[in-house]
Amino acid sequence: MQKLVVLSGAGISAESGIKTFRDMGGLWEEYDIMEVASPQGWARNPELVQKFYNDRRKQLLECRPNRAHLGLVELEKYFDVEIITQNVDDLHERAGSKKVLHIHGELRKAQSTKYPELVYDIEGWEIKDDDRCEKGFQLRPHVVWFGEPVPAMEPAIEITARADIMVVIGTSLNVYPAASLIDFAPAGIPLYLIDPNEVIYSDTSRINVIKEKAGKGVEVLFGRLTGEKPTY
Ligand code: OAD
Repeated sequence: MQKLVVLSGAGISAESGIKTFRDMGGLWEEYDIMEVASPQGWARNPELVQKFYNDRRKQLLECRPNRAHLGLVELEKYFDVEIITQNVDDLHERAGSKKVLHIHGELRKAQSTKYPELVYDIEGWEIKDDDRCEKGFQLRPHVVWFGEPVPAMEPAIEITARADIMVVIGTSLNVYPAASLIDFAPAGIPLYLIDPNEVIYSDTSRINVIKEKAGKGVEVLFGRLTGEKPTY
């Protein structure tokens, strides 16, 4: 089976009702990114940071995977699909995708402030002020903040380097190192980009752009890759 590598971003979850970050009305218009998504912000005001992610988590529990997530599951019948996602939501998993790598962490998990390798599933939606790891240190969201290392980049690069086809869905390609992943795809493989808006990328001549929202865009992709009509 050919390996189909997907790099997804906030846009794939937009039709599930989750706000993107940089679109008009996106989260970074409403919140100061450095206040809620950096170690410095956490040091200044941990309550604000916990509330920001607790609110996101609460909202996530009410959201459902959309047709884009479902389409990627269906493509597993034809391809060895591996998803590398910048998203911290769990909608790919809930849709049923088997191979999902989260490079920016997972909203429904908590990690120790002192020992980041100690990671826990969160029951419900809240990390409370007195929730601690087994060594007694405060728990924080298991999310990669600006300025922090991205340990999953190494496996993500390995996966991308073995791609036969690569698809980029719903990301502005603004955040590095995630945005650099495309550069690790083998030269000459088919590259697709699904986004209703224009995405700036240095080498657009290499890319087949499907200028649609994710749900419709994955349908178009499905048709092009399989030659069949989607039945999902
Ligand atoms: P952005 O908000 O930067 O980009 C979202 C992209 O989705 C844009 O290119 C939009 O045009 C597109 N989009 C909007 N609606 C869409 C739809 N219905 N279908 C498909 N595409 C749509 O989000 P990301 O690129 O994912 O990091 O952001 C990258 C990282 O920045 C995030 O992982 C997060 C953030 O700060 C962390 O939290 C560490």
